[in-house]
Amino acid sequence: MRQRVDLDWGNLGFSYLRTPWRFQAEHRDGAWSEGGLVADATITVEEGACALHYAQQCFEGLKAFTTPEDRSVLFRPLENARRMADSARRLLMPPPPEELFLHAVRECVRANEAYMPPHGLGAALYVRPLLIGVGDNLGLRPAPRYLLRVFCSPVGPYFKGGMKAIRLRVSRHDRVAPQGTGAFKVGGNYAGGLLATAEAKAAGYDEALYLDPIEHRWLEEAGSANVFGVLPPRARGGKARLVTPASDSILPSVTMASVLTLAAEDLGLEVERRRVAIDEVADFLEMGCTGTAAVITPVSVVHDGANDVQVGDGAAPGPVTRELYARLTGIQRGTLPDPRGWVVTV
Ligand SMILES: Cc1ncc(COP(=O)(O)O)c(C=O)c1O
Repeated sequence: MRQRVDLDWGNLGFSYLRTPWRFQAEHRDGAWSEGGLVADATITVEEGACALHYAQQCFEGLKAFTTPEDRSVLFRPLENARRMADSARRLLMPPPPEELFLHAVRECVRANEAYMPPHGLGAALYVRPLLIGVGDNLGLRPAPRYLLRVFCSPVGPYFKGGMKAIRLRVSRHDRVAPQGTGAFKVGGNYAGGLLATAEAKAAGYDEALYLDPIEHRWLEEAGSANVFGVLPPRARGGKARLVTPASDSILPSVTMASVLTLAAEDLGLEVERRRVAIDEVADFLEMGCTGTAAVITPVSVVHDGANDVQVGDGAAPGPVTRELYARLTGIQRGTLPDPRGWVVTV
């Protein structure tokens, strides 16, 4: 067993705990530096940095888990590398090469090994890569230099209570614009959402739920997670259906992609990625949020702007949500076979 710092691993929340090392590489004059580990948890940037003024920045979030053999593994990190490259291109930033991204993530996890939560306590090491535009600048143009930074923090569940169901409230605010940056993981999308989440919480809910920004009729996603619903079979004796919104303005969730695969291939459900009207929530037998932080969090109530709509019989999590959660977390934590090669050794 490796040496670990003394933490109350079973009771961690989803909050920042500073670890000793972070990885940093720099893009300057058209090329990436090799990069390396640094101890300083602060970043000094020019006051004119484009990241600060024009939100020329993007980020990622992924987790490292400890297997029963005390091995550190990452869940589908290549998907995060690709998504960061997509976000970077959208904001005219240099996409970090996949090898650099993966190297940075691995180095960061290895260097902070003592903060890797032990297996079996529900905790993980959350890894946060970010790419920021820096350098002296004033006018609206892309930055002259960029930093790729990766830091990590041990975390517990995002929503307090783990598998406890949460309540969502449809926001009066749009998350993003049509044809905007909704499908990319860029900070600007999130700054605008702070008020929506705060309003949801002030009204006694856990998180905001967004509708499409054109008709305000179709489900988009929650503040930091995609959503799915479970519908009854079309015909008696048929298979239950798992539906999730198709939209150009939501973040393509790595967790949701994994859940859809598990639902179709392992559970034999019918899977539909299509527009889902807010009215359909009343027909859902189960509903859940998916995300690296949220994992699979059941939803028991949706306030649709006028009324509280109860999902299913209100006794969330339902059987499909439970089964998906057990399979996903079993693969991530190395207690179930991983036939698709989703889990990679650090
Ligand atoms: C807006 C938003 N949607 C969905 C997700 C879930 O994505 P993933 O499963 O890749 O973590 C996140 C979190 O990363 C998010 O911030």
